[in-house]
Amino acid sequence: MTTMLIRGGRVIDPANGLDSRLDVRVSDGKIFAIAAGLEPIAREVVIDADGCLVTPGWIDAHVHLRDPGPTYKEDLVTGAAAAAAGGFTRVCCMPNTSPPLDTPERIADIVERGRQTGIHIHPIGAISVGREGGVLAPLREMAAAGAIGFSDDGDSAGSEDVMREALRLTSELNLPIMVHCEDPELARGGSMHRGAVSEELGDPGIPAEAEESYIERDLRLAEETGGWLHVLHVSTVRGIELIQAARARGVRVTAEVMPHHLLMTDEWVAGRRRFAGELEPVGSGPSPDSSAKVNPPLRPESDALGLIQALRRGAFDFVATDHAPHAERDKPASLSSAAFGMTALELALPTMARLVERGDLDWPRVVELLTAAPARTLGLPGGALGVGDPADITVIDPRREWVASEETLRSRSKNTPLLGTILRGRALLTICEGEVRHDARA
Ligand code: DOR
Repeated sequence: MTTMLIRGGRVIDPANGLDSRLDVRVSDGKIFAIAAGLEPIAREVVIDADGCLVTPGWIDAHVHLRDPGPTYKEDLVTGAAAAAAGGFTRVCCMPNTSPPLDTPERIADIVERGRQTGIHIHPIGAISVGREGGVLAPLREMAAAGAIGFSDDGDSAGSEDVMREALRLTSELNLPIMVHCEDPELARGGSMHRGAVSEELGDPGIPAEAEESYIERDLRLAEETGGWLHVLHVSTVRGIELIQAARARGVRVTAEVMPHHLLMTDEWVAGRRRFAGELEPVGSGPSPDSSAKVNPPLRPESDALGLIQALRRGAFDFVATDHAPHAERDKPASLSSAAFGMTALELALPTMARLVERGDLDWPRVVELLTAAPARTLGLPGGALGVGDPADITVIDPRREWVASEETLRSRSKNTPLLGTILRGRALLTICEGEVRHDARA
């Protein structure tokens, strides 16, 4: 029986109310003990976690792994490696693949192959057949095969009738309908937030109303049906205010926010790289910078700062990344031709660490938003360090400086405007069921 002792780290486990200097013993893939002053036993692997945080394995409830296709961007194996490198031991992958995950067989295939990657991978099934919005996909059967929710992410959920049917099923299945809110008519032709910067760059822009009007629509459908709506990647202050107001009326709605919407703004699309709320730029990029093209788009600073405030007051249920890998050929310089999306699994931790360093959030809250909170909200396993639980553990060095580059990123795709930026905060060790899946101690 192999055992491992993680010594002297700051153990933060919000699910169990832990935040103190403790040792963690892992044995046989499980957490064996958590206590102060544990002494190493014979042949035990000892990990010095002095100065590090020891947290439950991080959970990312929103990633795109491009499997079964297009695998030239990512696949389950490279996606799992990127997840582990980012500190994640559990991810939920979106069904906008080719072919889409809209049948129980395709869901079962992800579950099956996901088991062999060394981390936990949960598929999200499509709401509609072919993600085309017109006909409800077999949600019951996909749930039985292991889908943890349903989404046509990448596009708004199609017809109101399909949405109603899907929302009605949520009480039976107790799984959320996860919506990408964007009115395709209002958004048509735009590559970035509509405002002064899109005018400067000559882009038609995507108005905030495109997102907000569909949040309103889907909240209305949730209210009407009593179903569970989960709003993906909320990017505007008004969006989260609409959700909070609906929640106060008793609508069953949960919501997530992405690190890039908290810290980056539409200025990044013009190559002006300055984090929201900071004075000093962190660098500059081409203008336009298609690596900053993402959907929903990066918004003005007022939205980013407002979303941070909303996160602080508990308006969001959790943080997820929207990891959206794209190859170089999918991200040409021309803004209108580039695909939407940024690689994110490996950048979430340093981005959240920046918010801690600035005093916007503290570590226990950040850890909660990326462990216990998504587990609790979505009914996923993990997210805690309970004795006897499978040992899914992330050891974080919050001060470790590193540069995101073609060489350091594990994802098959390197599409991020943070390439070349000095970042602080990194997963030192990622352990899944007692096995080390990422080790950056060297
Ligand atoms: O930027 C995005 N990229 N937003 C989405 O909703 C989809 C994603 C993708 O699949 O690339």
